[in-house]
Amino acid sequence: MAAATAATAATGTGTATHRLLRPANNSTPLKAPTFFHLSSSKKRSFSISCTTLSAPPAAPSVATQDRVFNFAAGPATLPESVILKAQADLFNYQGCGMSVMEMSHRGKEFDFIIKKAESDLRALLSIPSDYAVVFLQGGATTQFAALPLNLCSPEDSADYVVTGSWSDKAFKEAQKYCKAKTIWSGKPEKYTKIPAFDALEQNPDARYLHICGNETIHGVEFKDYPTPLNKDSILVADMSSHFCSKPVDVSKFGVIYAGAQKNVGPSGVTILIVRKDLMGNAQPITPVMLDFKTQAEAASLYNTPPCFALYICGLVFEDLLQQGGLVEVEKKNAKKAGILYDAIDGSDGFYVCPVEKSVRSLMNVPFTLQRSDLEKKFIEEAALEKMVQLKGHRSVGGVRASIYNAMPLAGVEKLVAFMKDFQARHP
Ligand SMILES: Cc1ncc(COP(=O)(O)O)c(C=O)c1O
Repeated sequence: MAAATAATAATGTGTATHRLLRPANNSTPLKAPTFFHLSSSKKRSFSISCTTLSAPPAAPSVATQDRVFNFAAGPATLPESVILKAQADLFNYQGCGMSVMEMSHRGKEFDFIIKKAESDLRALLSIPSDYAVVFLQGGATTQFAALPLNLCSPEDSADYVVTGSWSDKAFKEAQKYCKAKTIWSGKPEKYTKIPAFDALEQNPDARYLHICGNETIHGVEFKDYPTPLNKDSILVADMSSHFCSKPVDVSKFGVIYAGAQKNVGPSGVTILIVRKDLMGNAQPITPVMLDFKTQAEAASLYNTPPCFALYICGLVFEDLLQQGGLVEVEKKNAKKAGILYDAIDGSDGFYVCPVEKSVRSLMNVPFTLQRSDLEKKFIEEAALEKMVQLKGHRSVGGVRASIYNAMPLAGVEKLVAFMKDFQARHP
């Protein structure tokens, strides 16, 4: 099969079920290209003009042991295999004689990259065909405005469930473009809860019900999703910080949006998944870059996209599929979060996580030390042990360990061992 596919690639045509793939460990120069087989149900035509099949120059050796465990909330840690693959392709992508950063976004090579990224994302989330997938710029923050501009007239109402700082920001931005209303706020309880859905006082006229699936700063995560009261209304979710961390039934949502820089890539890419019938009614003042229909019809190429960041997202999607998809990914995430929360809860109050147990995030684990005077020391000593970016968000303080998909189990185990040791040294 590999030989046959090599011949196909060399002649410049084929199907997108195969691509050249270099091994993650690039210390050994390749003698011949290897191929990655995609789901046969995802076949589509493509052509690619890179015909060089000789070995690429060996990438500089990477001292993996020099890398830290990065617990940052985003931009966040990426899979090492993805970074190494990107490094191997950086100078001369697949024999094209240039890097992805230098190629035209309308050329065949990039066309392949963006189409494969979309197709892999669709496979990962089983995105139904009546949903468009669009890669945008401007971060999730730009979508805070784009949502009401696309989904409402200025007189329409929209309901917001405010479970933390990010949903509050989304609500405040939406107020500029429609009659947005906070129908529930967790602020009085310091954003440690998700409301019971039957307690939500939804407006029967609301065009949409907005939630933030995972509050990155406060560490609360929806484990299930509310249904809009009005059957013509839709559920809209900011999934920035738990996107692709577990399977999601996309058909329950009208719109899902997410910044890539936590779970699926570098900053610069925002992913929008939108039911197709919801597009085409944008307010006249909507900037063209924020118009869902324009962007979807242009297949994310209305203007120059963030090509390199998108290429990395594509590598991450490929990696998640190779891990067995999101069911497997969720199992790993649950295991990591489980051992961290167990360490906190089993510390006799030395460490405290304020979030209600049933809605604790698998991605962002905030905690405080009973002796707050020790927090700075904890963070500094952890950094000396190569566990970095553990400081809580400036608005809440404390410690926060973000343990996204790409955080290895070994990183969480090392953190837990350090926590126990730190506690023992501070009786
Ligand atoms: C849940 C959530 N929503 C929105 C944002 C804003 O994203 P961006 O910086 O991409 O605009 C963030 C950023 O951390 C976030 O965590």
